Amino acid sequence: MATTVGDALVAIDIKGLYAAYQRQPVLENITLQFPAGKWTAIVGPNGAGKSTLFHVLTGSMKALRGKVQAFDEPIGTHRKAGHIAYMAQREAIEWDFPVSVWETVMGGRYGQMRQDRLWRRLLPSRWYHPRHVEAVHSAL
Ligand SMILES: Nc1ncnc2c1ncn2[C@@H]1O[C@H](COP(=O)(O)OP(=O)(O)OP(=O)(O)O)[C@@H](O)[C@H]1O
Ligand SMILES: [Mg+2]
Repeated sequence: MATTVGDALVAIDIKGLYAAYQRQPVLENITLQFPAGKWTAIVGPNGAGKSTLFHVLTGSMKALRGKVQAFDEPIGTHRKAGHIAYMAQREAIEWDFPVSVWETVMGGRYGQMRQDRLWRRLLPSRWYHPRHVEAVHSAL
């Protein structure tokens, strides 16, 4: 049976998560559930480990221990299916690099774009599939 929290399905289910840079532990025994179809905000002081948590969810950082699932499946399955998107925070963006706000937000569609046909992925951005363009406009 699907895991639920209150009346919602659990989208992301984190159990006993540990993560560290070199030896310095940043996330220690984190257990947390994100309900599907709702906004969740992670709030904490600078250096608390918020971005580190997202790096683990996106797969750019490997957890030392623990289990991360999405809709009762390993989160990697959903990463491959393009269901996970991430937009870096202000400090991680190189502001002199010549990309627009529109292109930066479009970066969040990367996983979804991987499902497009190869020929479409090779086209310049003005020919991106309208669903990506609409998603970016709606987010902005
Ligand atoms: N690449 C890295 N190498 C080593 N330590 C790091 C690295 N990135 C972050 N840290 C350290 O890990 C801890 C958590 O950092 P993280 O960036 O996850 O915090 P945050 O909650 O996102 O902070 P902020 O509110 O400033 O964005 C901090 O002590 C930080 O100095
Ligand atoms: Mg951060």
